[in-house]
Amino acid sequence: MSGSTIKPWVVGNWKMNPVQSNAQQLIEEFKQLLQQNPILEEQCQIGVAPISIALQHVQQQLADANRSILTVAQDLSRFAGTGAYTGEVSAELLKDSSIEYVLVGHSERREILGDTTEVLKAKVQNALNAGLTVIYCVGESLEQREAGQAEQVVLQQICDITAVVKADDWRNIVIAYEPIWAIGTGKTASPEDAQMMHAKIREGLSQITALGASIAILYGGSVKPENAADLANCPDINGALVGGASLNAESFYKIAEAFANTK
Ligand code: PGA
Repeated sequence: MSGSTIKPWVVGNWKMNPVQSNAQQLIEEFKQLLQQNPILEEQCQIGVAPISIALQHVQQQLADANRSILTVAQDLSRFAGTGAYTGEVSAELLKDSSIEYVLVGHSERREILGDTTEVLKAKVQNALNAGLTVIYCVGESLEQREAGQAEQVVLQQICDITAVVKADDWRNIVIAYEPIWAIGTGKTASPEDAQMMHAKIREGLSQITALGASIAILYGGSVKPENAADLANCPDINGALVGGASLNAESFYKIAEAFANTK
């Protein structure tokens, strides 16, 4: 036990994967694993983030699992409500489809898909206004880490959204620290390095909000069954955002089990 009172979260970020038949099989296998060896809801929050067109289908398929499993959108529009924005899905429309959770600020959206700070602020604001919970991702590049700027970059990314998060809305924020150099590369931050950054994030959050001590801070970047327990043992690591390993039911289950058993 790490002594943290924050319930861990383990969320699978499926990114632009997998084809429908594989997604269905993955969920069936995962539900079976939970059936055989339950992970209680009070031990760990579990969620999956599929592609947008699969959100409702995945949610329906998860409905008969032996515990609640959250369906998380990977993104949302910077525009609110409804209107002439071809291709966009707003926070309100996610909510209208009973989707209550959304990722914002993943490094792939920042680096490849052009989400600027202004766009991310609008997304966070829209999501919170619509009553969604935001998993807000932060993380430094390898160059920034090597230049000794990691902490400054990550804390700035958190400060970027403070203007649009009202005091009470911090209850609906989860932070995911994902060093860019560890995403999809097989390189995980060492538990010590990750813990050090998580402690800095916790300190930063506590200066921003009275709720700072209760905000879950997830680690992401090549989390696997082999490193999950060591990460889970760190006091300020309250869960994992899992990419590649969440596409395999057994790996994802083992990561959730590690966090559930350690915390
Ligand atoms: P990874 O991805 O686990 O495949 O490194 C994590 C993420 O991008 O959320």
